[in-house]
Amino acid sequence: MLKDIFIGLSQNQFLNNAAKKYGLKMGAQSVVAGTNIDEVIKSIKELNAHGISCTVDNLGEFVFKEEEATEAKEQILKVIEAIHEHNVDAHISLKPTQLGLDIEYSFCLSNLREIVDRANNYGIFVNVDMEDTGHLQPTFDVLDELSKEYDNVGTVIQAYLLRADEYLEKYKNFRMRIVKGAYKEPAEYAYQNKKDIDANFIKLIEWHLVNGKFTSIATHDHNVINHVKEFVKKNNIPNEQFEFQMLYGFRKDMQLQLAKEGYNFCTYVPFGNDWYGYFMRRLAERPQNLNLVAKQVLNK
Ligand code: FDA
Repeated sequence: MLKDIFIGLSQNQFLNNAAKKYGLKMGAQSVVAGTNIDEVIKSIKELNAHGISCTVDNLGEFVFKEEEATEAKEQILKVIEAIHEHNVDAHISLKPTQLGLDIEYSFCLSNLREIVDRANNYGIFVNVDMEDTGHLQPTFDVLDELSKEYDNVGTVIQAYLLRADEYLEKYKNFRMRIVKGAYKEPAEYAYQNKKDIDANFIKLIEWHLVNGKFTSIATHDHNVINHVKEFVKKNNIPNEQFEFQMLYGFRKDMQLQLAKEGYNFCTYVPFGNDWYGYFMRRLAERPQNLNLVAKQVLNK
């Protein structure tokens, strides 16, 4: 119920536009690493100092105008330059809709190609995040196209998808992030209850660890993390073959602990003015995150 309300709010374009004007509010500053490149580089340096690598997301949603998509592309290119210039341990995460997937496929592909090409010059990886099922096939199509020219690109498999195993097998030669899935999807396409999603998540992770290229296990779920730790030990899977990922600001102690234990750890670091949809989806996943809002309000 609460989940549906926050997912609904995340899709409200009017509130999204309004939020951009007022800077980070409502506790979003706890989970969004600033509004500009200087701030995000500072956050990356702090995480790198603890042995944690980063994937940087220049936040952006509801892009229906070419100028906005071009602006997003330019900003991501600047982030790539900044990663290179500051020599920080970081790569890029981006959403195809931000680069114009809802405007025209070929326009989005050309924007993405420019980004992947620039990143490739510096040996920087680009992860194409997965959005709702309406964008699933075009996102895989973009990946198919780019992989003909570049190998510094990968994507995400969402365990709630009924066909997730097919996608994972098809893309096993890509560096792949596996997640539970963040959008509201119909039963026609996705498992609806937590037990089924969790079971599929474990199944996909195990399969990819054994059969796939590099695996990013993106979750805050300690049960899954503990299971993976046991699984890799039992199956002699070396640490170089996988990493754990969590979102910036969540389970900070566990992030540090996993890095300290010697696991590859990567924090997903979002930044920018377009924080509203991202923040609402985090509240949808875990209404306890409302604590962040409450703390922020009380600290004022
Ligand atoms: P989930 O929310 O199911 O929580 C399981 C249990 O873990 C909870 O019951 C609780 O015990 C514990 N827990 C979780 N969060 C906690 C916290 N903050 N503090 C204490 N305990 C906590 N989705 C998508 O559709 N496309 C994408 O591209 C991505 N990309 C992505 C990158 C990264 C790095 C992450 C971490 C996640 C994504 N996601 C995503 C989001 C993902 O699909 C999913 O919605 C969220 O990660 C929430 O699911 P979890 O696996 O974290 O556990």
